[in-house]
Amino acid sequence: MVSKYEEMIDIKKLPRHIAVIMDGNGRWASQKLMPRTMGHKAGMQALKRTVEACAEIKIPILSVYAFSTENWKRPAEEVNYLMQLLVEYIEKEINELHKNNIKIKITGDYSTLPRVCISSINNAIEKTGNNTGMIFNIALNYGSRKEILRVVQQIAAQVKSGKASPDTIDENLINSLLYTGDIPDPDLLIRTAGEMRLSNFMLWQIAYTELFFTQCMWPDFNREVLMNAIWSYQQRERRFGGLK
Ligand code: FPP
Repeated sequence: MVSKYEEMIDIKKLPRHIAVIMDGNGRWASQKLMPRTMGHKAGMQALKRTVEACAEIKIPILSVYAFSTENWKRPAEEVNYLMQLLVEYIEKEINELHKNNIKIKITGDYSTLPRVCISSINNAIEKTGNNTGMIFNIALNYGSRKEILRVVQQIAAQVKSGKASPDTIDENLINSLLYTGDIPDPDLLIRTAGEMRLSNFMLWQIAYTELFFTQCMWPDFNREVLMNAIWSYQQRERRFGGLK
């Protein structure tokens, strides 16, 4: 069934890049008197639905915040479960993603993840590397401030070695050194579960991104809410600081 918002959106004016802060797994589970891990499991299903819907309507890039540099503070049991879920998701979905011409990209330093995650991720990147369809960008062990710090360190090294000088540093150089150097900035950022904050996600990249907040808990996220977000985005006038 085609939803109300899906009928209203202009398929020719879709956002090029949608970024999602998938929040509310824990609360969704608590409301149902279930352990938090069950919320993450249901969150994985919501992620699967979202990837499928975005690929189907031909969104060029989808970025999701799967694990932040701050998420390590959670109890080890929950962190381990999330890592396990990541491997489960990739192993279960990789063939389907590949079949749908989706290219996997990782944003963040995943070298510190458990070995089984690293090999699963490397395998997915390699397998889908030549695909030309939607880029599915998963932020893992990602934090915007750490990402910017890393860029500053790289530029400092370039200056030290004489490859760059203070007056040649510009926004293009910074952009190119971010994890997202090869993709455009998000046009639309969706955050679920009612929180209205950015939680250290793509702070540089979302300078002119349109924001969409919904009360919907991530495990309940579906095509209708996605279309609602896209429709809302299409009602906005983007001026990028200029005039109409
Ligand atoms: C936020 O909910 C969600 C996360 C920290 C993890 C996102 C993970 C998934 C959607 C699961 C599947 C994905 C992979 C690829 C690992 P929360 O736990 O902060 O919710 P709360 O604010 O209600 O506690």
